[in-house]
Amino acid sequence: MNTSPSPELSQFAEEVLRGLSATPKHLSSKYFYDDEGSRLFQEIMRLPEYYPTRAELKIFTEQTEKITDAFTNGADAIDLIELGAGDGTKTAVLIEHFLDRGIDFTYSPIDISQEANDALSARFREKFPELRINPHTGDYFKVLDSLKNGSERRKVLMFLGSNIGNFQRDQAVDFFRALRAVMNPNDRLFTGFDMQKDPRVIVNAYDDSQGVTAAFNLNLLRRINNELGANFDVDKFSHYAQYRPVECAARSFLISREKQSVTIDALNRTFEFEQWEPIFMEISQKYTRAMIEELAAESDFEIETEFFDEVNFYTDSLWRPIAF
Ligand SMILES: C[S@@+](CC[C@H](N)C(=O)[O-])C[C@H]1O[C@@H](n2cnc3c(N)ncnc32)[C@H](O)[C@@H]1O
Repeated sequence: MNTSPSPELSQFAEEVLRGLSATPKHLSSKYFYDDEGSRLFQEIMRLPEYYPTRAELKIFTEQTEKITDAFTNGADAIDLIELGAGDGTKTAVLIEHFLDRGIDFTYSPIDISQEANDALSARFREKFPELRINPHTGDYFKVLDSLKNGSERRKVLMFLGSNIGNFQRDQAVDFFRALRAVMNPNDRLFTGFDMQKDPRVIVNAYDDSQGVTAAFNLNLLRRINNELGANFDVDKFSHYAQYRPVECAARSFLISREKQSVTIDALNRTFEFEQWEPIFMEISQKYTRAMIEELAAESDFEIETEFFDEVNFYTDSLWRPIAF
């Protein structure tokens, strides 16, 4: 019997090893989404405090026609490719409209979470039997090369949910440049950005009164227990969220409530935690319009069209590659 771990599990183990060996300790938010994590994120999206999903959904429902026109503008056929698709709720609005208008298109959701991708595919196949859907499970960094083609069809890459906010600035530029490298001049990139706003509104979105965001963060420790044979006692960690308005960045941490040791069998390692030592879990960057413009320019794009909600909480920004 082959007992070697799958490449995904090895990558997870490697990243946990790197993160918990670093100072300060950190874990990657891309691993939040196992079955329970995906379920908890659905709950987060329904929380009264979590405005980003509602704001982006409003843009999709109220400006469907304009978004569709901007995507199709001059193109006969479109390949919609969604990076980190999650449950695809917002995209479903667009897909329904595309189908109603008889647009020639395919839809390729890419997500690192098998659970999220399976659930999305099953739901979309039932809801839209005529949809041409090609789901792909994997890290979007690893599938980029497969997107490179000389096809005449316009690719529209979608990166919604302000997922870009989970990257540090340099990583965001590297990511956009990597996307730019697989795009043809006629392709487009459509990214959701959460805008700078009242700091209290922002911090509450990451520290809700029902403790769902806390459970979502703590679930990553449970996932490490389940998949890597660790012995985290999750009751000995608490969730802490902060927003720094000067940097426009929300950050979340898990704080070790006491001095403790945690062993991870798959790594054959024990990690020491001091009392009140933080594990940095996630950054959620917020943006001004100037920051978005700078990011586009630095990554060799220009902004073609922007779609804001009525209170400017959120924007979906359509970019075209600048010709080299
Ligand atoms: C915050 S959710 C947002 C989902 C969706 N885009 C939305 O707007 O509702 C992030 C999604 O990205 C996926 N994800 C995170 N990092 C990823 C990576 N490196 N490669 C592929 N998918 C990733 C997660 O599994 C999750 O489903």
